Amino acid sequence: MLKKLSIAAVAALSLSAGGAMAAGGAGHIEDIDFSFEGPFGTYDQMQLQRGLQVYTEVCAACHGLEYVPLRTLGDDGGPHLPDDQVRAYAAQFDIFDAELDDYRSRIPTDHFPQSGIAEAPDLSLMAKARAGFHGPYGSGINQFFKGIGGAEYIYSLLSGYTGEEKEEAGAIFYENTAFEGGWIAMAPPLFDEQVEFRDGDANDIEAMAEDVSAFLMWAAEPKMMARQKAGFVGVLFLSILTVLLYLTNKKLWAPIKGRKFNG
Ligand code: HEC
Repeated sequence: MLKKLSIAAVAALSLSAGGAMAAGGAGHIEDIDFSFEGPFGTYDQMQLQRGLQVYTEVCAACHGLEYVPLRTLGDDGGPHLPDDQVRAYAAQFDIFDAELDDYRSRIPTDHFPQSGIAEAPDLSLMAKARAGFHGPYGSGINQFFKGIGGAEYIYSLLSGYTGEEKEEAGAIFYENTAFEGGWIAMAPPLFDEQVEFRDGDANDIEAMAEDVSAFLMWAAEPKMMARQKAGFVGVLFLSILTVLLYLTNKKLWAPIKGRKFNG
């Protein structure tokens, strides 16, 4: 029995080590304390607005967000832009309307455009597709405390260029410490002070990378806070129910338990 248990323990340990290696093998992921991590985390509205600006001014040239409805920019818990700003933001992108048989400006019920160049993947779900942390094999323990790590992966990717490039089969690849394989076809998209933030916030590569990563996490998981809240309410409800059932049980059995048997 003991032997079986110890074999199981060793197997579990080696599995978790394998899990950690699988996460680390893809590249170097920096851990960032994002505001939305942990069981009570929330998105930072100002950070999401700055991230939206970085996405719009830099990433949108190549990458789309085709699964994200533009109206969600006005959602509470998200960038929370006022209605007129959401409408103005949407209107800067054109869309082909089959009914009109012509192009028109987008309206809030439309989605963000698709990627402008075929090689650049859509970023709508990227922050979920590239989870950077895993708990002891699939348990998700790390993810519970540190977030899933998708935002960290994007941050590490954007700030992980070494400056080395190479040409292979006519294409240029850039060395990147976070990208699997170490060489990526995306040229370093950010440079210091590329984006001018309204509130004069820091705009070096790291600061912009952090903001756009937070924005892309929100895009992939806009209802994270609502889900966490529902989970918390559920646990609270079950705890109260447990106490009530325990007391009810005691009360129901009290007359029987207290009875003396004399005979
Ligand atoms: C000039 C075009 C261009 C711009 C601008 C650009 N990218 Fe990319 N991006 C690409 C291409 C091309 C790829 C595919 C690279 C590859 O697979 O080697 C890519 C890949 C990615 C990936 C996926 C990496 C992976 O793990 O597969 C992410 C995430 C990403 N870009 C984020 C961004 C963000 C965020 C910005 C804005 C700060 C940005 N990109 C700006 C062209 C661009």
